[in-house]
Amino acid sequence: MTFYVTTPIYYVNGKPHIGHAYTTMVADSLTRFKRQRGVDAFFLTGTDEHGINIERAAEKRGVPVRQHVDEIVDEFKSAFSLLGVESDRWIRTTDDFHEAAVQKLWRILDERGHIYKGRYEGWFCAGCNEFKDVEDESEPQCPIHLRPLERVAEESYFFRLSEFQKPLLEHYEKHPDFIRPESRRNEVISFVSGGLKDLSVSRASVKWGIPVPNDPQHTIYVWLDALSNYITALGWGNDKYKDFDRYWPALHLIGKDILRFHTVYWPAFLIAAGVELPRQVFVHGMLLRGGQKMGKSLGNAIALDVLHRHFTRDQIRYFLLREVVFGQDGEVTYEGLIDRVNSDLANGLGNLASRTLTMVRNYFDGRPPRPADGFDADVRDAIAQAKARFEEEFESLNFSRALDAAWSGIAAVDKFITDSAPWKLAKDESARSRLESVIGTAYEALRHVVLMVAPVLPDATREIWSQLGLEGDPLTINPNETEWGESLGSFEIGEIRIAFPKIDKEKVMTEINSEHEQKQAQPEQKTETAAAQTEGVSHITIDDFVKVELRAATVMEAERVPKADKLLRLVIDVGESQPRQILAGIAEYYAPETMVGRKIIVVANLAPRKLRGLESNGMLLAASVGETGRPVLATFTEDVPNGARLK
Ligand code: MSP
Repeated sequence: MTFYVTTPIYYVNGKPHIGHAYTTMVADSLTRFKRQRGVDAFFLTGTDEHGINIERAAEKRGVPVRQHVDEIVDEFKSAFSLLGVESDRWIRTTDDFHEAAVQKLWRILDERGHIYKGRYEGWFCAGCNEFKDVEDESEPQCPIHLRPLERVAEESYFFRLSEFQKPLLEHYEKHPDFIRPESRRNEVISFVSGGLKDLSVSRASVKWGIPVPNDPQHTIYVWLDALSNYITALGWGNDKYKDFDRYWPALHLIGKDILRFHTVYWPAFLIAAGVELPRQVFVHGMLLRGGQKMGKSLGNAIALDVLHRHFTRDQIRYFLLREVVFGQDGEVTYEGLIDRVNSDLANGLGNLASRTLTMVRNYFDGRPPRPADGFDADVRDAIAQAKARFEEEFESLNFSRALDAAWSGIAAVDKFITDSAPWKLAKDESARSRLESVIGTAYEALRHVVLMVAPVLPDATREIWSQLGLEGDPLTINPNETEWGESLGSFEIGEIRIAFPKIDKEKVMTEINSEHEQKQAQPEQKTETAAAQTEGVSHITIDDFVKVELRAATVMEAERVPKADKLLRLVIDVGESQPRQILAGIAEYYAPETMVGRKIIVVANLAPRKLRGLESNGMLLAASVGETGRPVLATFTEDVPNGARLK
């Protein structure tokens, strides 16, 4: 029996955040869980490195695309490894073997008659890498990225998706577990039942991608390229790896933001190519902050570096798996994390470990007793039940409920210890065998719990394991194959240390809040900035400069703003799908009618602001001349297209 789990491969257009870490940590815990139970498991993650959004991210930073992707990949790798994530393979869509295999997949689809050449005209979101159906064409926006859509009209290859409605519906029908949870399955069935349009699978205007075989003017659509990673990483279509027959089909873990790609397009490509379909696509919800999806674009993400400064990776892993129901959206806060650490880890597991071990040391010279009268039957039952529930829930990816079950076991042992009052038994020589039973039972129950939760808390359980006086790593022991009492002998427990120190909430929250404030005040301070400061002159680095997006534009309309002597309202073309409105303080020197048709330079990425109730989406550049500061517009000595970037 083998098991293969994948995460989405992450776009390298920005730094990793806790949303990316979430899916990856879940996959990591699941792999550890399977392996602990003797399953031959394989865990894949990686990075999605082609397409227009990556090209633009590199351009924005002013570095070559290849250098950009390499740098961000390193950041992802180190962020994940700080969280204790150990994947078996890391695929990059820029890997040669992947690129060759994707071209092979293309050829197969083409030879089988699933691809044809046509022309695409429509609206595209570079953030989603997706063409969007638009009802109102006047100012179409991406509902996810809240940015204007771009108009694309170009020659394109199409995949005959429309022919896959029936086979897809049949597959969903025959494999009720193919899409989970149920609500997502229903959503997909209803979408596919509504009919499918052919899918544009190449881009002529995107250069950073895999060329279409025999037609290198076109690059393969990034989603066809990216989705294929799940099979190419195992060696499908290439000689680099030989793991496909052993591990495929996969369990794909994904966020609900990329549902359609994984449950409609991907299976359609596979059916078309004659490749077996994934075993299951499990769709989780979004981590929210203030009710909104946490992410880079909204700037509301819990920062990974702040997290690492204040919390251990086990605490973070436990919190995310316990707090958020896998499959649903969940609000996450630093306060919530501290509360979980204090109540479940410090007071729960940590306290059970330290009180049990302290009694072994105090009453039995550090040697866990093997009770002559046997273990307490009720506690054994409670642990057996907790374990059965834990297994079932974890297998079904209900991590939160699985952990809840484990903690019900902890609560039962805690109550048993308190009710049995071993500190009283210890004073009574005739109660010695009862004391052995109480402490032996608590010790063994704790050992079982530690084995149970090791996939989620790999560091802390290893630590408690050694305090229990046991050797090796609990992750290498199958919790379903260990017997009560088998470990008890004449060994001694290890040194007792606090596994989960309590967190001072007020103090840590004050620190976190001030770190966040500092971050906002000086976003991403680069080390070069300090080096570039020479006496008396405050230099900026090229990194600072590239943050300013200067672009060529043409004025389309101009008028005075009522009751504002200095302001002109301009409508300009910056080479985007939509014109923009900006306000400029030049009305005393430039008559509106002289402005129309002028080529100007604007700061295109200035945050929008309102002046006299009108929104300004950019700033016009002009020299400030003489004592009056007369503005003289900056322009070009020859014609340049709108949108051209100044660097
Ligand atoms: N590159 C595509 C996926 C291609 S898979 C063949 C992509 N990348 S992404 O970088 O945007 O990452 C998307 C995934 O990151 C989500 O599906 C989810 O797994 C994770 N998350 C990103 N933000 C998240 C939250 N706020 N909450 C939970 N998960 C989030 O889409």
